[in-house]
Amino acid sequence: MAQLMHNLREREMVGWVLVLWLGMAVVAAAALGGQVRYDGRSIIVDGHRKLIFSGSIHYPRSTPHMWPSLISKAKQGGLHAIDTYVFWNLHEPQQGQYYFSGRRDIVRFMKEVHSQGLYVCLRIGPFIEAEWSYGGLPFWLHDVPGIVFRSDNEPFKIHMQNFTTKIVNMMKSEKLFASQGGPIILSQIENEYQNVEKGFGDKGPPYVRWAAEMAVGLKTGVPWVMCKQDDAPDPVINACNGLRCGETFVGPNSPNKPAIWTENWTHFYDVYGNITKVRAAEDIAYHVALFIAKMNGAYINYYMYHGGTNFGRNASAFSLTSYYDPAPLDEYGLIRQPKWGHLKELHEAIDRCSNTLLYGTKTNLSLGPWQQAYVYKGERNECAAFLVNANGANAAAVRFQNQTYNIPRKSISILPDCKTEAFNTAKVSSKESRRKMAAAVELASVEMWQELDEVVAVFDETSLRSNRLLEQMNTTKDTSDYLWYTASYEQSEESQSTKISVNSGGHVLRAFVNGEFIGSEHGTYRNQSLVLEKNVSLKRGMNNISLLSIMVGLPDSGAHMELRTSGLEKVRIGETDLSNHPWGYQVGLKGEKMQLYTEEGSRKAKWRKLSLASRLKWYKSKFDAPKGNDPVALNLASMGKGEAWINGESIGRYWISFLTPLATPSQIQFHIPRSFLKPRDNLLVLFEEEWGSPLGISVDTVSVTMA
Ligand SMILES: *[C@@H]1O[C@H](CO)[C@@H](O)[C@H](O)[C@H]1NC(C)=O
Ligand SMILES: *[C@@H]1O[C@H](CO)[C@@H](O)[C@H](O)[C@H]1NC(C)=O
Ligand SMILES: *[C@@H]1O[C@H](CO)[C@@H](O)[C@H](O)[C@H]1NC(C)=O
Ligand SMILES: *[C@@H]1O[C@H](CO)[C@@H](O)[C@H](O)[C@H]1NC(C)=O
Ligand SMILES: *[C@@H]1O[C@H](CO)[C@@H](O)[C@H](O)[C@H]1NC(C)=O
Ligand SMILES: *[C@@H]1O[C@H](CO)[C@@H](O)[C@H](O)[C@H]1NC(C)=O
Ligand SMILES: *[C@@H]1O[C@H](CO)[C@@H](O)[C@H](O)[C@H]1NC(C)=O
Ligand SMILES: *[C@@H]1O[C@H](CO)[C@@H](O)[C@H](O)[C@H]1NC(C)=O
Ligand SMILES: *[C@@H]1O[C@H](CO)[C@@H](O)[C@H](O)[C@H]1NC(C)=O
Ligand SMILES: *[C@@H]1O[C@H](CO)[C@@H](O)[C@H](O)[C@H]1NC(C)=O
Repeated sequence: MAQLMHNLREREMVGWVLVLWLGMAVVAAAALGGQVRYDGRSIIVDGHRKLIFSGSIHYPRSTPHMWPSLISKAKQGGLHAIDTYVFWNLHEPQQGQYYFSGRRDIVRFMKEVHSQGLYVCLRIGPFIEAEWSYGGLPFWLHDVPGIVFRSDNEPFKIHMQNFTTKIVNMMKSEKLFASQGGPIILSQIENEYQNVEKGFGDKGPPYVRWAAEMAVGLKTGVPWVMCKQDDAPDPVINACNGLRCGETFVGPNSPNKPAIWTENWTHFYDVYGNITKVRAAEDIAYHVALFIAKMNGAYINYYMYHGGTNFGRNASAFSLTSYYDPAPLDEYGLIRQPKWGHLKELHEAIDRCSNTLLYGTKTNLSLGPWQQAYVYKGERNECAAFLVNANGANAAAVRFQNQTYNIPRKSISILPDCKTEAFNTAKVSSKESRRKMAAAVELASVEMWQELDEVVAVFDETSLRSNRLLEQMNTTKDTSDYLWYTASYEQSEESQSTKISVNSGGHVLRAFVNGEFIGSEHGTYRNQSLVLEKNVSLKRGMNNISLLSIMVGLPDSGAHMELRTSGLEKVRIGETDLSNHPWGYQVGLKGEKMQLYTEEGSRKAKWRKLSLASRLKWYKSKFDAPKGNDPVALNLASMGKGEAWINGESIGRYWISFLTPLATPSQIQFHIPRSFLKPRDNLLVLFEEEWGSPLGISVDTVSVTMA
């Protein structure tokens, strides 16, 4: 298992993105002595230009208990700012009902950042994408009459303005904007809109103008940005997203605006079944240094610095429960080397010369066909230099100011005094870390478990009826991943082999005829729809057709998300099209309704001894917390697909059986935050859709050793 784990980690991709902000111009309307401005060079805080390294840490993807240590490790890693989105659907899951406690306590998170002396970039959105369910929009918006998301559409604008105002007012009343002495130096409105703008025709551009005006009208005293929006209206700053914005960005849309590099989410987050490759520390450092040297970069954000966990059903369609685990702080909050240390050294080298960079003048000179020097000189003869050996060239020895420097291939040497190399992006001195998972509790014996069958729904027992196949999200309202489509099908004579075929818009289908399992199919991230075709035997008379359609997260991107559909689209048995037949629906599982995963719900149910593995089963066990303070993970390698709960808290979906082309699962260990655990008798409940056996499950401790 340890070996398999290690291979998995190596193959996993670095969910990395850089958000790079260039220097800025035009003074933001800074009423009330607003202390945050920008000019053509950088953000200006309290009258000083700042070269800021920032990292994304999303508060609901960890726990309040973890926040102080995550922030402190980010600070030790040389960051000056923490960037987070605001998650609308966590804060207002039902219209007008707001939640701001526990993992949703954004104010507490920001006060923690502030108390450790770091700045905040608050990306309100409130559409955020972020591999988060519905891109952060609350599902109730779907049912607002006449709504068109993210468009020049009154209903959408009213709700977007309402929530944005609510958040801004909350920040103001807690004095969290820098203009009030707080940590927030930047805010973001909308998110990567240009990607979808064409899809809205002439309703796109006025929406962008409205969003900018609305945001600016909230008078926060700190600048606003829009990422991936080349035409962001003044004074909102337009930003670039991508891995290589140093090469691809079209530039600021006015001479008074900075070039901003936000993020490119497409390459790097993990979805089930993908083989992803890790982005090396050297590559990240190279692009950051190039952006600073060549583009006057003055704001750099790592997306993600700590990814964390998509608890519950918060992951978007096909996204893993683990989020950007290969970041400098891993899913458990442990330091990942050499990435963390290598970037820390880069930050230190830049900090040593940041005044020269921000206030000096730049020249460049050629050191060879592929080699350049970028030299910054201050008024009092301070000097800082970047010696660049461009991507594509071999290692080179270059002469710069009468000295020879050896620069490895695709690397940049930083000389904070124009003499001594303080850092080279390809020379990694931090030792590689290895993460160790050690089984602390093995739940390997039959006596440790109890089980319960989930009931296969049948038409006669459903109350929700329709003469057509209903769209899934509009039917479940996202109260569950599960929707039963049931029908009663009359067969004139017994048949050994009748073809049943089902077309579904996604994501997973498990089919039963007369209570017997007949087959499963699933879609993929790229193609979420599926077709199931089976020959089945039917009885003479009425047959119970029970089709369990399962979503693995809501969409999080694309134009017109309100029109997206999922669930069954067509059902045929033999020659009969059942699409307009009477269908009975059951939203969610019986076990979900009974809340089997809580102490109370679990006590009310009649559990029995563990028997052979079979489909659609609930399992429960109890375990004592592993001793010590190491992070804890649940190893579900022996399971198939489902969801897991600890003391009533969902630690997320699992899908071990969806293998990558290398025949490995995408994720087998699931984070159990220490704060979910009590010393003894922790209730573990699983819902398993497939044939997984709980006897292989262990509770592991997670630690890191240096190679
Ligand atoms: C937002 O909507 C709520 C009701 O859902 C209402 O009470 C409140 O006044 C609205 N706020 C704004 C700023 O429109
Ligand atoms: C973002 O990634 C996509 C591929 O997923 C690529 O086509 C695009 O060029 C990237 N954007 C930038 C700005 O680098
Ligand atoms: C998943 O893999 C496919 C095929 O290799 C690739 O096209 C896609 O970009 C990957 N998706 C993500 C989210 O990485
Ligand atoms: C999303 O996460 C929050 C806490 O971070 C949790 O309370 C909520 O139940 C989750 N939502 C879903 C749909 O699982
Ligand atoms: C070097 O500076 C010149 C003049 O300012 C500019 O035209 C050129 O693009 C720069 N070269 C590089 C590689 O930045
Ligand atoms: C380099 O050497 C030349 C001649 O030896 C000398 O004139 C020049 O000042 C030196 N430059 C630096 C930066 O030391
Ligand atoms: C969604 O369901 C409601 C009933 O709950 C129905 O009136 C409406 O037409 C449905 N909308 C769509 C798009 O299917
Ligand atoms: C179909 O379900 C009903 C209700 O549970 C049950 O009475 C009936 O026996 C089932 N029919 C078959 C053929 O299994
Ligand atoms: C997606 O999958 C479905 C079902 O397997 C198939 O019919 C369809 O052609 C696929 N679409 C694309 C674009 O590959
Ligand atoms: C179903 O049976 C027919 C013949 O009765 C056969 O041609 C077909 O291949 C079978 N389909 C499947 C999916 O087994």
